[in-house]
Amino acid sequence: MCGIVGYIGAQQAAPILLEGLGRLEYRGYDSAGIAVLGARGTVKVVRRVGRVHALAAAVPAKTAGRVGIGHTRWATHGAPSEANAHPQPSADGRIQVVHNGIIDNAAELRARLAAEGIDLASDTDTEVLAHLIAGATRTQDTLETAVLAALAQVTGTYAIAVVDTATPDRIVVARNGSPLVIGVGEREMFVASDVSALVRHTSSVVHLEDGELASVTATGFRTFTRERDDVAKTPTTVELTVEELELAGHDHFMHKEIHEQPSSVERMLGGRLDDRFGSARLDGLRMELRELRGFRRVKVLGCGSAYYVGQLGATLIEDLARVPADAEPASEFRYRNPVIEPDTLYVAVSQSGETADTLFAVREIQRKGGRVVGLVNVVGSSIARQCDGGIYLHAGPEVSVASTKALTHMAVGFALLALALGRVHDLSHADGARILAGLQALPGQIAEILADEETIAQAGRRLADARSLFFIGRVRGYPVAREAAQKFKEITYRHAEAYPSSELKHGPLALIDADLPTVAVIPDDDLVERNLAAAHEIRARGGRLTVITHPGVDLGDLEADRITVPRNERELDPILLTIPTQLLAYHAARALGEDIDRPRNLAKSVTVE
Ligand code: AGP
Repeated sequence: MCGIVGYIGAQQAAPILLEGLGRLEYRGYDSAGIAVLGARGTVKVVRRVGRVHALAAAVPAKTAGRVGIGHTRWATHGAPSEANAHPQPSADGRIQVVHNGIIDNAAELRARLAAEGIDLASDTDTEVLAHLIAGATRTQDTLETAVLAALAQVTGTYAIAVVDTATPDRIVVARNGSPLVIGVGEREMFVASDVSALVRHTSSVVHLEDGELASVTATGFRTFTRERDDVAKTPTTVELTVEELELAGHDHFMHKEIHEQPSSVERMLGGRLDDRFGSARLDGLRMELRELRGFRRVKVLGCGSAYYVGQLGATLIEDLARVPADAEPASEFRYRNPVIEPDTLYVAVSQSGETADTLFAVREIQRKGGRVVGLVNVVGSSIARQCDGGIYLHAGPEVSVASTKALTHMAVGFALLALALGRVHDLSHADGARILAGLQALPGQIAEILADEETIAQAGRRLADARSLFFIGRVRGYPVAREAAQKFKEITYRHAEAYPSSELKHGPLALIDADLPTVAVIPDDDLVERNLAAAHEIRARGGRLTVITHPGVDLGDLEADRITVPRNERELDPILLTIPTQLLAYHAARALGEDIDRPRNLAKSVTVE
């Protein structure tokens, strides 16, 4: 949800800002802009609707200045337009602001500013910040105190970066509910929504916490709170490299990330498999075995695909630990005044670690005394830091908006958690060892599925002509179907809906005809006959079928595109059954010529409510 960058130092700011915005484009891509402070109190502002490359083409080569801020936008208040793009200026252009988040009392503030005679030039909530800061400079001595005075008037979420032509030696930043990091260089400093925008320049970063501000100059930074107390911060080192953010010969990041899974899963498992006890080693949970044993229930919270994988994870936990477990969208949970139980283990799952709904759900649970652990990919992200412990997913950076490898890592993370919980409950050592062997087999088996990409690609291309599709699965296969439908709709813009196979005859079967294909998940388990019966019911009504199944399953005379994945342990099979659905969506979207890594209306990191 919007990306922020800032630079101050000895180099020309514009190219650094544009490169950083390119890296952050996955956060929002409907418009972009930069403001560069020039000599003698001047400022050059360029804003464009569309992608960062459109902005780059519009920025004059001679744009000179060593201080600047930039923004890539995902519209919340006001349609994508040049006037609504950031930076948002004060009336005299002296103050420029970039903002990620939502100012809740913007309407009220806009009315007040208008009544004071200020012409509002955009439909954004951000513009009020620029006017409030400009107004505060009349009574405050410094830009820092002017920003503080302005923020005291707003409610809502924000990460902001502010420059002032009158004090061109600093960028003032503030955070409340939206991420912000400072990059520490050699006599130069950076600010950004996330570290991907900084790694080309520095690996030394400082994370701001909610309620904190910083004044950033070319040679250092000072962090302080809204209460004006100084806070000492020590930079940490990020391990991300620029190479991890390149396409490396793939046409799309989604394709690259799907193909990274064998090696990334292997990396994730490294050091976490405990052969001696047939269990998982999860030091990050920061929990004694006795504590783990004390939980009588597990509640998983996530949004979108993370929620669907959470369902898969809840099933794994029930299977292996025999502890009641369920998943709920964090976006719903947080609004329904949930009952928090002391003997429930709450698990927040998130790739970005910045999803606002999930973060607020975590805080709500903690406020009521609950214990939350996180399954999070981005190290140091808000959710990771807010949780009481957790399992880092170590999937590496995921650039494509449609999540693939991070979801697989979530599922593997749940398998590890389920194993650890199981081994302090009733799971035998032998069963623990069986699951460990299954986990160890995953990287090779994922590679096997990917090696058969062309079969899956052909099936995907055949699905591309459908306006609407069903994805079906039963019990462990149902979360697979839900995630598959989600992936398909996100990047093909086709209507795709998931149903439990068992529910077909209770309604959805009425829609089946030659124009509505179905993707059926049919593992070789105790439900295989029932699943095949549902598939025959679809064929009997003229529906086209793609079946994702195991080698031993005999489809008989069932006419279908068949995708076969290797068998693992039945509890872990859903992880492998999901892999071809990623490629189905990818190749269908590719056949349709869609913008796979940047689907319309979506953003990678949903930091607004
Ligand atoms: C996945 O392909 C989606 N882009 C989306 O549903 C995503 O999983 C969801 O917004 C949650 O994001 P998170 O994992 O970063 O919390």
